[in-house]
Amino acid sequence: MQAALPPLRLGVNIDHVATVRNARGGAMPDPLRAARLAAEAGADGITAHLREDRRHIVDSDIERLMAEIDLPLNFEIAATEEMLAIALRHRPHAACIVPERREERTTEGGLDAAGQHNHLKPMVARLRDAGIRVSLFVEADSRQLESAVALGAPVVELHAGRYCELAGEERANELRRLARAAEACGRLGLECHIGHGLAYDNVGPVAAIPQARELNIGHFLIGEAIFVGLVPAIREMRRLMDEARARAVA
Ligand code: PXP
Repeated sequence: MQAALPPLRLGVNIDHVATVRNARGGAMPDPLRAARLAAEAGADGITAHLREDRRHIVDSDIERLMAEIDLPLNFEIAATEEMLAIALRHRPHAACIVPERREERTTEGGLDAAGQHNHLKPMVARLRDAGIRVSLFVEADSRQLESAVALGAPVVELHAGRYCELAGEERANELRRLARAAEACGRLGLECHIGHGLAYDNVGPVAAIPQARELNIGHFLIGEAIFVGLVPAIREMRRLMDEARARAVA
């Protein structure tokens, strides 16, 4: 008999609501309102990235998300003392450590968990000691996964950017790479999340990866919301994820 796959959570990244707000200054559109609508639409969590340059989410957004939203917050941060202090002050449900370069438009690659072991080790320990679930945003590469284990991180988020950008056979190869990494997560005892670049037309095969437990999706949903509204956009993403998951087998 074919067993159903374990549930797959949807984390909605609201950064780009703040991008639009900041284009004009002022308070609108409000990322908090987006978080409330995401909850109404069936999201399982909210993701927000407080960048060093505060280009989208700003400190007061994090304060308000923590104070006013019931969904768990996945707080994306760079591995800096400043961000560690902010995370420890707010104690969100999860902290996802991401690489950050000022000049990049978005998070372009995974964290070098292997190369930065000594820098990351105390940070992961302090977040964990504060009861924060630590996740590392890494490439789908066995060396990075083994490093996540060595660092004591219980979760990794696999960077899906290349899979989303490529087409045809190259995309199929990238999907296999993500699936192999997710399998390795299972063997290593890491919880597997996947994110970056996911959209209606590419989410299905990723949602069908058995070991995946959470997808984090932002830019596409906020863009789609301009045309159909945020709640319908999230509901459609949820439907596509659930459909792909139901068709797959454990
Ligand atoms: N996961 C992580 C760790 C990210 O850094 C981002 C982008 O901020 C996302 C998921 C969401 O990616 P996108 O906005 O392309 O859906």
